[in-house]
Amino acid sequence: TASTHAFVVEPHPTPVPANERTGLIANPGFGRVFTDHMVTIRYNEVAGWHDAKITPRAAFQMDSASAVLHYAQEIFEGLKAYRLPDGGAALFRPSANAARFRASAERMAMVPLPDELFVESVRAIVRQEADWIPDIDGGALYLRPFMIASEVFLGVKPSSEYLYAVIASSVGAYFKGGAPAVTLWVSQDYTRAAPGGTGAAKCGGNYASSLIAQAEATRQGCDQVLFLDAVERRLIEELGGMNIFFVFDDGSIATPPLTGTILPGITRDSLLTLARDMGLSVREEPYAIDQCRADAESGRLLEAFACGTAAVVTPIGTMKMRDGAFQIGGGGPGQTTQRLRQALIDIQRGHAPDPYGWLE
Ligand code: COI
Repeated sequence: TASTHAFVVEPHPTPVPANERTGLIANPGFGRVFTDHMVTIRYNEVAGWHDAKITPRAAFQMDSASAVLHYAQEIFEGLKAYRLPDGGAALFRPSANAARFRASAERMAMVPLPDELFVESVRAIVRQEADWIPDIDGGALYLRPFMIASEVFLGVKPSSEYLYAVIASSVGAYFKGGAPAVTLWVSQDYTRAAPGGTGAAKCGGNYASSLIAQAEATRQGCDQVLFLDAVERRLIEELGGMNIFFVFDDGSIATPPLTGTILPGITRDSLLTLARDMGLSVREEPYAIDQCRADAESGRLLEAFACGTAAVVTPIGTMKMRDGAFQIGGGGPGQTTQRLRQALIDIQRGHAPDPYGWLE
């Protein structure tokens, strides 16, 4: 379809030379290597969305009274572009990210960016920066669209001006060391989201509030924090930045339902579809931590895994809580986890047919 917003391209005068770029993306880790350019689009009440540009990635000039700096009116997305076997690049489900971005904007009383403009903006940056996709196992270009309240005003009200931007980062695996399975710390002191709160929105505040619990997980020698629900403090919700799945000995899989306190993961949604089409019995249902522990100990729970754009599918080997640790299955990657992971990445990387039309 015809582009409604032309992105004015102001190329970087001194982009990173190709030989240096090759070195930077050979082992990039997660979220530290950034490409040369970024997208920006502005909103105000007079012009609407306007001034769509690709420019050198640079510091923002912003007023110290900009609303986002005070009241955290901010949302973001995460999605990846993959290198295809024919040398081209494809985005995984950008329309789903556009829809979630719009839902997050509505929850945070921000002006929604039209879905088409979101998708055009991520396509534009991938076109510009495709050379930054690392040709390594698990490599991708991680795109980070985000929107901030830019009105200069200290009153507590929805901003009348916004800045939307997309930056891009060459990434490898999220967890360093390529550990076969991660360890979770079950947070019994902190919760992530309450009913009526912002748990289903991808806003920076959710991640800020997770950090103290994540720091506790790290102190406990664990890789990630696992949050329980804020009301009963016993139902499993999600990790600091990933959803969670369980695999049982009857061949079924389960994940907590989207009741408004859980981030509606696009990887989560994709895995539910893949699992159903593999003939697995799939449930979205609450699962209490005590039951999880009992099932792990009885052998009814065979596998658990974390999933997200950054983490893809990562096996969970052990859970640790105040009154002790317990292992899940053999403590390493399980068969169903590996099968789902492979099915997902084969579609993402164009190694298998894409019957769902997920590559856009
Ligand atoms: C993602 O998987 O893209 C996330 O948002 C998780 C984290 C890096 C914030």
